[in-house]
Amino acid sequence: MPERRRILVTNALPYANGPIHLGHMVEAVQTDIWCRLQRMRGRECYNVCAEDAHGTPIMLRAEREGITPEELIGRLAEEHLEDYRAFSIHFDDYYTTHSPENRKLVEEIYGRLRDRGSIDRRTVRQFYDPERGMFLPDRFIKGTCPRCGAKDQNGDSCDECGSTYAPADLIDPRSIVTGALPVEKESEHLFLRLSDYEDLLEDWVGDGRLQSEVVNKLREWFDDGLRDWDISRDAPYFGFEIPDAPNKYFYVWVDAPIGYMAAFRRFCDQNGVEFGDFWGPDSDAELYHFIGKDILYFHCLFWPAMLHGGGYRTPSSVFVHGFLTVDGAKMSKSRGTFVMARTYLDHLDPEAFRYYIAAKLSNGLADIDLNLEDFVLRVNSDLVGKVVNIASRCAGFLHRQFDGRLAAALDAPELAAAAAAEAEEIAELYEGRDYNRALRRVIALADRANRYIDERRPWEAARDPERAAEVQAVCTTGLELFRQLVVFLKPVVPAIAGRAESFLRTGPLVWEDVHTPLLDREIGPFEPLLTRVRREQVAAMIAASGEDGTG
Ligand code: MSP
Ligand code: ZN
Repeated sequence: MPERRRILVTNALPYANGPIHLGHMVEAVQTDIWCRLQRMRGRECYNVCAEDAHGTPIMLRAEREGITPEELIGRLAEEHLEDYRAFSIHFDDYYTTHSPENRKLVEEIYGRLRDRGSIDRRTVRQFYDPERGMFLPDRFIKGTCPRCGAKDQNGDSCDECGSTYAPADLIDPRSIVTGALPVEKESEHLFLRLSDYEDLLEDWVGDGRLQSEVVNKLREWFDDGLRDWDISRDAPYFGFEIPDAPNKYFYVWVDAPIGYMAAFRRFCDQNGVEFGDFWGPDSDAELYHFIGKDILYFHCLFWPAMLHGGGYRTPSSVFVHGFLTVDGAKMSKSRGTFVMARTYLDHLDPEAFRYYIAAKLSNGLADIDLNLEDFVLRVNSDLVGKVVNIASRCAGFLHRQFDGRLAAALDAPELAAAAAAEAEEIAELYEGRDYNRALRRVIALADRANRYIDERRPWEAARDPERAAEVQAVCTTGLELFRQLVVFLKPVVPAIAGRAESFLRTGPLVWEDVHTPLLDREIGPFEPLLTRVRREQVAAMIAASGEDGTG
């Protein structure tokens, strides 16, 4: 890796047809923690995101609401961004895939793929809604399961008996758009010949850049043979029209990942950063995409192929995470566990969510369980009981007896040195997305700091005027150990860290700061950094999620 690391990071673009839920937020938090760590360590690291604006569902939803798709996207972009901000997710640019920058990049990449001979045209038969005059994606057809007879099942699989089938097999199929009987109809589609990129993909997948679980899944697909990818959709469709195929549009999954580039393009134009340094074929910058396991195929096969064929660099890696479950089960509307970000914010502190999820996250594909009971205990015990508590214990004595002034030397410099000596390893754990292990190390340091204060008993020394210097030195040491914890936790709980910085009057702390103790100066008045999470808040959130129709 080059000395001076330059890094571009993305998380998946949320669809512009629904609100952000806690599952989305797991990904945003995972990404944000990683980027904050990089920036605290002095790296040039950007995180861009956008609305995934195109596709049939967005077109139909806008129609139902009697507004234009542009209006719908604009409204949801605002809501999404508000949610992200409230959870302290920092984006260097938040754009939309429905942008001129994106159209230009999509046309350019498509043109290059075509000129290389990687685009085929062929006729496909597809279901069509004759009333609405549109082709129907599989999930826009419902009917009776051919296997078990359950009514109202999706066009591709039955929720009741789990069987999978083609929409043509459904008994009594109908279009969910108009209720009409779908008919089969032919249309010419454009395909990206993925097999042209087999060697490239074999190398890219096989050279150790991806998680082993991801490689295993991709191997299965390789073994089945790489199938061509249908990249076009017929009008009516909300998207970009294909330049040399009138009335045909790029499938949303073509322009969505290119939307990463377009968001960064705008960022570059506005901030004097060189786009080609990050995306050019010879770029030595790092490029990472954080995604959920459901969209791995798009990011690990189609996307590198498109980039390579389009004359750009391929990603340094794709970091894949599992799904959020609540109390061990899939998020469920009827149980009230399908929690929207907004609903969470109405009841609970976003820092608590960030901390809990980080404490659960590893670098694998396993699902991440939000256990509601454990959430309350864990946040209260770790953050409030162990971390914040150190500061509140020590600050009081300094204010009462020393006008808030820190001692000129530490009582136990070896403790601070020992914590500082762990900085590199903790950073490595974050870097490897082993957040749970990083936090275990940090909380072990918090335990050690609390033990130190318990042993030195400043509250006893405080009763003896002759031991004043000792009280000041012990409390200064306690606050220094606390400040180091703040540095280590800052990527995870940036808002708490911000309040701690203003109480300690340090200015924005960076990773290196763990090595330089804070001495011989005044601190500000202690302010509550985080209040305890109460079970009733969680219960109220679950109740609200069960009630509102959307949630
Ligand atoms: N719009 C596409 C992504 C295009 S990226 C070029 C999409 N959007 S999504 O809104 O459905 O999902 C966005 C991200 O959230 C995906 O990475 C997805 O895996 C993740 N998650 C959605 N539900 C999730 C959970 N319940 N848990 C964790 N992540 C989840 O896919
Ligand atoms: Zn069935």
